[in-house]
Amino acid sequence: MLNLFEMNTVGHITHGLWRQPGNNRSRYADLSYWIELATLAEQGGFDTIFLADVLGAYDVYQGSAEVALREGIQIPNNDPMLLIPAMAAVTEHLGFGVTFSTSYEPPFAFARRMSTLDHLTNGRVGWNVVTSYLPNAARNFGLTDQIPHDERYEIADEFLDVVYKLWEGSWDDDAVVGDSVTGVYTDPSKVRAINHVGEHFRVAGPHLSEPSPQRTPVIFQATGSKVGIELAGRHAEVIFTGGRAPGDAARNVAAIRAANERNGRLATDTKFVVQAAVIVGRTDAEVAEKLERYRRFTSVQGTFVQQSIPFDPLLHPADITVREALEREGLFDLIEAGGLPLNMAVGQFAASLDQAWQKHFFVAGTPKVVVDEIERWLAEENIDGINLRQYHSFETLRDFVELVVPELRRRGLVSTSRPAGETLRERLFGAGPRLPGRHLAARYRGGANLDVPPPPFTH
Ligand SMILES: Cc1cc2nc3c(=O)[nH]c(=O)nc-3n(C[C@H](O)[C@H](O)[C@H](O)COP(=O)(O)O)c2cc1C
Repeated sequence: MLNLFEMNTVGHITHGLWRQPGNNRSRYADLSYWIELATLAEQGGFDTIFLADVLGAYDVYQGSAEVALREGIQIPNNDPMLLIPAMAAVTEHLGFGVTFSTSYEPPFAFARRMSTLDHLTNGRVGWNVVTSYLPNAARNFGLTDQIPHDERYEIADEFLDVVYKLWEGSWDDDAVVGDSVTGVYTDPSKVRAINHVGEHFRVAGPHLSEPSPQRTPVIFQATGSKVGIELAGRHAEVIFTGGRAPGDAARNVAAIRAANERNGRLATDTKFVVQAAVIVGRTDAEVAEKLERYRRFTSVQGTFVQQSIPFDPLLHPADITVREALEREGLFDLIEAGGLPLNMAVGQFAASLDQAWQKHFFVAGTPKVVVDEIERWLAEENIDGINLRQYHSFETLRDFVELVVPELRRRGLVSTSRPAGETLRERLFGAGPRLPGRHLAARYRGGANLDVPPPPFTH
């Protein structure tokens, strides 16, 4: 599975690189950027463009959003859903995985927007379920602070329950008659309210959209925590996983497959992808030039911002420990809280953050070297594909399409068959546009079980 990792913003995860000559990232607010990107991804046989999103500014590092704003780190940042119809209009097969948080906006209007996208894309849309991690996002939606982690996942589970009722249970497949002779557009006996009354949401229904090709979009999630894995086992069809050490991804894959089975699903009902840093060149010299250029433009502070590092490693001599630096800044509660490597030298801590992305899936080389590494990950970490990190738009995607995709195809690592009208779910799983009957969402089909609570979410 080939995904392109994107965000409707200048600086997504490769901080500082928007400044490179010829980089198109500052055109992110221009529709032509997305049309060009989607066209190229489709030519290269990508399965999806995956659109990340956050609902607040990164304001933990240095106690303000100043560095994030100055360096364009995920701010400014526009709504990802609104890009999809334009990209769908210039493509036939490409899917779109879009991020939406279950923590702040109630589910009814989102369910309708997603159904609209599923109609307009002819069933090529997926939803990346997130619960949001930025404290500023909580304050943007009227809260004083973050909802605790596990509680966010309980809310997510109920949110999913509500949207399944709307997508799967509110309208029957044959509700729309569209008979101009009798004047009946919809048979009212085949549409129903959902009357959901839960701990977090109350939604009457009926759903406002008629059934779309997939009904429920393909459910994506990125997780690693215990409660997140339980949520994934109940719901997710595509998981972003990773880890720092060899075997981490494979362990996550096994844990989520086991969670699937606890929830009456098949281990193979979920596909797994890792974020991949791929730097490819026609020659070793071209690879070296790219590496040198990316290093030169990379902003170290950008990494501190995105990781919400609660103190400033650059303010201190490199050889004092993190503990000493925190003491100097008076941040005694952070020493108590743990989580930071207190005995590591500050300089080493900063360097480790800067280089953290190289500890994940990272490969720089000519096409054969790159595809060998992709093949190794697929086999050893038991994954199904990658989510390609971008260093330069459109250099990263164009070079991947020109140099890597032909070799992936030669080795049979990506599928080349593209039946007309195929939905994203069919493309990934082959078995039809709708979720299989063993998925939780299916219990509401035909209006069944709307007043019967789902099995409890235990974690
Ligand atoms: C590849 C990838 C993409 C992610 N994209 C987003 C995103 O766009 N928005 C967001 O709020 N969180 C995003 N996350 C964070 C996850 O939703 C989640 O918070 C994180 O993986 C921690 O998992 P946990 O909640 O199980 O501890 C992403 C994580 C990964 C690995």
